[in-house]
Amino acid sequence: MHKLLERQLRRSGLLESLKALPEAWQAFLETVHQAYEQSDTDRVMLERSLDLTSKELTQRNADLRHQQRVLNDLTRSRSIYLGSLQETLGKLTEALSKTLGVERAGVWFFNTDQSKIVCSDLYQKSKDHHSSGVEISTTEHPAYFLALAAERTVAAHDAQHDARTCDFAETHFKPLGITSSLSVSISFQGKVVGLITNGHVGSPREWTLEDRQFASSIADVVSLAMEIGEHRRAEEEITAAYGRLRQTQAQLVETEKLAMLGKFAAGIAHEIKNPLAIILQGENYLRHVEGLQSPEKQEVLLLMRSAVNRADHIVRSLLDLARPAALRLGNHDFHVMLDSAFSLAIKPFNPNAYRITKNYTQESVSVNVDEDQMQQVFINLVVNALQAMPAGGELTIRTYTKTISADDSGVGRRATDYFKLGDRVVACEIADTGCGIPANKIAKVFDPFYTTKPRGEGTGLGLSIVRAIIEAHRGLIAVRTQEGRGTCFTVLLPLSQ
Ligand SMILES: Nc1ncnc2c1ncn2[C@@H]1O[C@H](COP(=O)(O)OP(=O)(O)OP(=O)(O)O)[C@@H](O)[C@H]1O
Ligand SMILES: [Mg+2]
Repeated sequence: MHKLLERQLRRSGLLESLKALPEAWQAFLETVHQAYEQSDTDRVMLERSLDLTSKELTQRNADLRHQQRVLNDLTRSRSIYLGSLQETLGKLTEALSKTLGVERAGVWFFNTDQSKIVCSDLYQKSKDHHSSGVEISTTEHPAYFLALAAERTVAAHDAQHDARTCDFAETHFKPLGITSSLSVSISFQGKVVGLITNGHVGSPREWTLEDRQFASSIADVVSLAMEIGEHRRAEEEITAAYGRLRQTQAQLVETEKLAMLGKFAAGIAHEIKNPLAIILQGENYLRHVEGLQSPEKQEVLLLMRSAVNRADHIVRSLLDLARPAALRLGNHDFHVMLDSAFSLAIKPFNPNAYRITKNYTQESVSVNVDEDQMQQVFINLVVNALQAMPAGGELTIRTYTKTISADDSGVGRRATDYFKLGDRVVACEIADTGCGIPANKIAKVFDPFYTTKPRGEGTGLGLSIVRAIIEAHRGLIAVRTQEGRGTCFTVLLPLSQ
């Protein structure tokens, strides 16, 4: 007899009298006994299932709290606020995979005509590896994409047979061992732009409400990151546009200055040129006239000649600057031109005082330039470099070709910018180990008449002419320098087409 039943009967004093009960009552007693037994088993089962439910609840609670923490960390991550979408996506797929315990988690975006999705980041947990670039046609998997558009979340317990996802069974799920899949679409500015995928490997799993909510929240974080990225880009565009505006303003001021200077210089030059020519002719005549051969007179004549030559040089430079001669363009071998400019420039110097290195690219480089003017550019730059090293030093001339990238200055998207992204150019660096230029003077070196050389040695027109010529060729010149250590001028010129 069931113990509890026995105890209750004894307490009520009925246990002894049971024996006297008729046969039919005995059978009834047996039924009562069985009912007691059954209630025992039910109770044990109930207790066990209560225990399980409470354990599961505790576990789900812990999972939920963990998911909240992960989400909190993600939304505070620096990469999101720095607008670096790719880095953020990497973090998100990793968080998805680790938090949901799925083997593969990915973020995909539609291409412009929505004919395919392209993987931006796919994390594989067992290999701890990120990849990207895989593409999937949307037209070949209509059921899946229709379901995503209609439901936002597609949670497939049995992914290989689920009507919404079975199109992927042979191509993806079976080869990768994926049994369950969970996808959520990503919206941006009111449009579905991509999706998040989770592929579970192993025995199929049910996706809990928490799993779905977590995946949806990750999809929202992607939208947030895109939003922030968009703001960042807009901000950068504004900053860049502002920078370009300031540069254009500065150029306008410069052009204005140069135009005024040009008028002024052209006027003076015309006034001076003719008298100079007359003096020069006179000097030539006097030199050959009898009776003027005494050494003193010869010396005076020589001084006169050099003074006139110098004045003539200044006048020519002013004219070059004021009215740059029309370009006589032709295709020229850049290195041949550079070498001949170098030989002319080094002439007045003692070559033994310098260590000269020519580090030219192996490629043959052809440029479409006015040869005379371009030679003048490199003569000026080499002479400046040599003059910056009165006690000798190192002069390095390096050339290389390159493709203009976003990092290069003066590069923009408008037709008026010097170069456009992707343009091919030759770069020529002329570097010395001379006195360098003080930081507060760098902006001045291209100004006409700015010179630090003793009176009579420099006109201060060299670099302004250099820049005018390079810009007339749609090239660029830049300078890097460190006071006391040296200077490097870099010239960029477009390569011949
Ligand atoms: N490689 C260099 N190292 C140090 N300073 C330089 C260098 N190149 C130019 N400079 C500075 O820039 C100034 C202007 O140079 P720029 O060539 O325009 O005129 P300049 O050399 O003084 O005279 P010139 O008209 O004879 O060329 C120089 O006086 C010098 O102070
Ligand atoms: Mg000079």
